[in-house]
Amino acid sequence: MILPIRAYGDPVLKKVAKDIEPGHPGLEQLIADMFETMYEANGVGLAAPQIGQSIRLFIVDASPFAEDEDGKPTEEAHLKDFKKVFINPYIVEEEGEEWGFEEGCLSIPGIREEVYRAERIVLQYQDEQFNEHEEEFSGFAARVIQHEHDHLDGILFTDHLAPLRQRLLQGKLRDIGKGKCDARYKMRFPVTK
Ligand code: NI
Repeated sequence: MILPIRAYGDPVLKKVAKDIEPGHPGLEQLIADMFETMYEANGVGLAAPQIGQSIRLFIVDASPFAEDEDGKPTEEAHLKDFKKVFINPYIVEEEGEEWGFEEGCLSIPGIREEVYRAERIVLQYQDEQFNEHEEEFSGFAARVIQHEHDHLDGILFTDHLAPLRQRLLQGKLRDIGKGKCDARYKMRFPVTK
């Protein structure tokens, strides 16, 4: 089932999400619904708060980065199989030089801005079977994880921008909160008067 994606301004996007336990009700269906929702919106990552659930869960499928428009392998060809579910994830280390990349977010349609993030991370997380992992990621994989992990701490990519840039975007962001944007996927906007 495709779930509506919560838009900028929704309080759930500013909350710190809670850990979940094995046997979390409806988890398998929720993960399936999140993948369906993410693919429908052409996203490469989706965090549970973005569909209104304040729990520590996100999914990624970065395989679109592995091929160019003609279907040829890119420098990131190793991302072809980077489809994963992360449960109760925590970044325990960030290292390497920060690099910039123009990011977007399904909760903030129509805005793309350069965000600087660390090159490498070490992530502790559980998989769908709640097996523990500690794994190092770098490059795009690390970036997608950092973006989604931020969502679990109530942080949006726009929060990383310089204060002046944030001020310049304020009007556009406020418009998104009011539903004045054109996303080609189902969204839910915070109630405004
Ligand atoms: Ni996002």
